[in-house]
Amino acid sequence: MFCSWACRFVIGFSLFFHTIANADSVASYPEDWETWPVVKESLTLPADTVLPPDTSLFIQESVRSYSWINNGQGSPLTIRVNPKKLEQYKTHGPYTDGPTVVAVSEVDGIIWVTEHFSGLPIYGSYNRKGEDIASMHPTLEPEFCQRCHDRYKDICINGTCTEPVLSSYE
Ligand code: HEC
Repeated sequence: MFCSWACRFVIGFSLFFHTIANADSVASYPEDWETWPVVKESLTLPADTVLPPDTSLFIQESVRSYSWINNGQGSPLTIRVNPKKLEQYKTHGPYTDGPTVVAVSEVDGIIWVTEHFSGLPIYGSYNRKGEDIASMHPTLEPEFCQRCHDRYKDICINGTCTEPVLSSYE
């Protein structure tokens, strides 16, 4: 027998722990993202931003979650889509497998990646060198991404949230 009862227990246990205690990126780093077409230029807002009282909960949470970026001063955010998936992006999917879209926080050089696997969105955070930085900050962990991208289902369809701005790349 290759793996005794005890050995199976150890493997099972470590897989379990890997799943619950792991803060690594799940989406992979798309090497060629810098060549992907830009579909939107946006911003993460500074920490002292005062939002109008009728701002949606979704936007309030998004602004609050990432107000630490660039020492609380905000940063331009560039959104680029995998050229093979531009058509899918226009309709918020359904998406084929592989990296789909990146959001790049320009000042700190954070690359947020949304990939699709079996039609479902998975998430990851990298720096410009392609190093996994998901464990650098609680808001960069894939599980945190999911809480927003997968919960606001009327806004984030199939894991992408931005209303595609078609005119900018047509
Ligand atoms: C609290 C809400 C929230 C969380 C948490 C969040 N996002 Fe987003 N995400 C947004 C919003 C809002 C946009 C649209 C920004 C815009 O268009 O200006 C967005 C846009 C994106 C985009 C551009 C494509 C798209 O969906 O429109 C990517 C890629 C992305 N997020 C990945 C991630 C990753 C990876 C994480 C976790 C490390 C994450 N997001 C965490 C709210 C969130």
